[in-house]
Amino acid sequence: MLFTLFARGTRQAFAVFPRRRALVAWLLAAATPSSSGGTSPRETVSFSQDIAPLLAQRCQSCHQPSKKRGGYQAHTFDALLTPGSSKEAPITPGKPEASALLRRLKSSDPDERMPQKEEALSPAQIALVENWIARGALFDGARRDQPFSEWAVTQPRGAAPSRYAQPFPILSALPLSASNACVIAGYHEVLILDRATRSIRRRLPAPSQRTFAIQRLGSGERWLLAGGTPGRSGELAILEPGSTNAPAILLRSADALLSCAVSSDGRWFAVAGADATVRVLDAGTGRLVKAIEGHADWVTSLAFNPASTRLVTASRDKTARCFAVPGGESISAYLDSAEPLLAIQCPAGGALAFAAGRDRQIHVWNVEDGKRAAVMPARDREALALLSTTNRLFAMCAGGVILEIAAQGKREVIREYTAKGARLSCLALDADARQLIAGSFEGDLLWWDIEHPESHQRWHCLP
Ligand code: HEC
Repeated sequence: MLFTLFARGTRQAFAVFPRRRALVAWLLAAATPSSSGGTSPRETVSFSQDIAPLLAQRCQSCHQPSKKRGGYQAHTFDALLTPGSSKEAPITPGKPEASALLRRLKSSDPDERMPQKEEALSPAQIALVENWIARGALFDGARRDQPFSEWAVTQPRGAAPSRYAQPFPILSALPLSASNACVIAGYHEVLILDRATRSIRRRLPAPSQRTFAIQRLGSGERWLLAGGTPGRSGELAILEPGSTNAPAILLRSADALLSCAVSSDGRWFAVAGADATVRVLDAGTGRLVKAIEGHADWVTSLAFNPASTRLVTASRDKTARCFAVPGGESISAYLDSAEPLLAIQCPAGGALAFAAGRDRQIHVWNVEDGKRAAVMPARDREALALLSTTNRLFAMCAGGVILEIAAQGKREVIREYTAKGARLSCLALDADARQLIAGSFEGDLLWWDIEHPESHQRWHCLP
């Protein structure tokens, strides 16, 4: 489900805007402030102001480290000038006619024309690129190898719509059981919902278009948010709902961040996503400690072990892996899944990890040697998310079913929580308060008391 979600990602993002054309126009205007005034090229063209934002918006989804279409990347200045599989110089400074990139922007052959299979750039934007190349393709940024996603100028701030005209998926949630509330992710915002009245208590701006994971930090009201704009950028941030400060961004990446975790000793954050890189940060300083490139495809989920010494990861590359914390040394790899993995947990005890995904099974494996300990069928359903308590595992499965499974012994399914007709998109748990929460692709929230699958609350929670 996560995969189709990504394929649909951009379209859905547009869909939540009442007037799609207005958004497209706004995005392009934000991307190329100088070109919005008309078609006449300006005297000077700035790479950092005019060109980089355009590339980040229109090219990077197919040309970046995790997706090198045509063997070509366009996420840094250095990469932009490096030929792809054609070996043809994409840009020849001073010579637009000898620049393959420009030829591709103008081409009338749909296979050659870039962005491939998408709307062409406007004549004004193409003129801007041509003008920039003609004037020597000069670089006016800070570092030629710096990803455009790190440039402040490429981050036009999206705004939450006042009303969601179309269904929007709830991609992450966090129960605030002590105040009978819950945080959910919306479009460029997070919302605090009141369980008793089923109303929205607050709407807070979030740094990412989509927030794929929310974790609580310590006992106070501080949340770690991981998210991004699929194909374009990822952000890891700390949001303090009690403060008026904008969320503090700890890290930016070239593609969406899908999962984040806090170690139980509170010393480390870990985050990973569509750029296939696992990053460990010092929770005290917010600084990056280690970037681990141990997977060949999206890292869909990660978790620390209870001792905070190991990090386990699940990936679309069909492997689950274990790394040392904080050094990132590879400890083991689990290779027995036939299909992409979407979820992982390393519950109490810490010797075993549970990984699940498309192959309709939950794989139990030993984190120190990667060996399989057991395989549990997930009632013939794809497992999209896993959560654990000391003695239970909760598996959110396709078809609107959440399985509660004994984490030890025979590992039997103890209860089944069903949400008829709902396409579930995220799962959250408060083990102490015994609450289970799920979000759906339609923007619904479902709320159960653990051990009481028969009764649940369900309501459409977006404004
Ligand atoms: C939807 C995906 C997609 C998008 C978006 C996209 N491209 Fe491409 N691009 C491709 C594919 C696929 C190829 C390889 C096929 C080919 O060579 O015709 C390619 C090839 C290229 C090449 C040739 C690389 C080489 O040396 O072989 C260049 C240059 C290029 N793209 C530039 C761009 C620019 C500039 C943009 C943005 C304006 C862009 N692309 C947007 C898919 C895309």
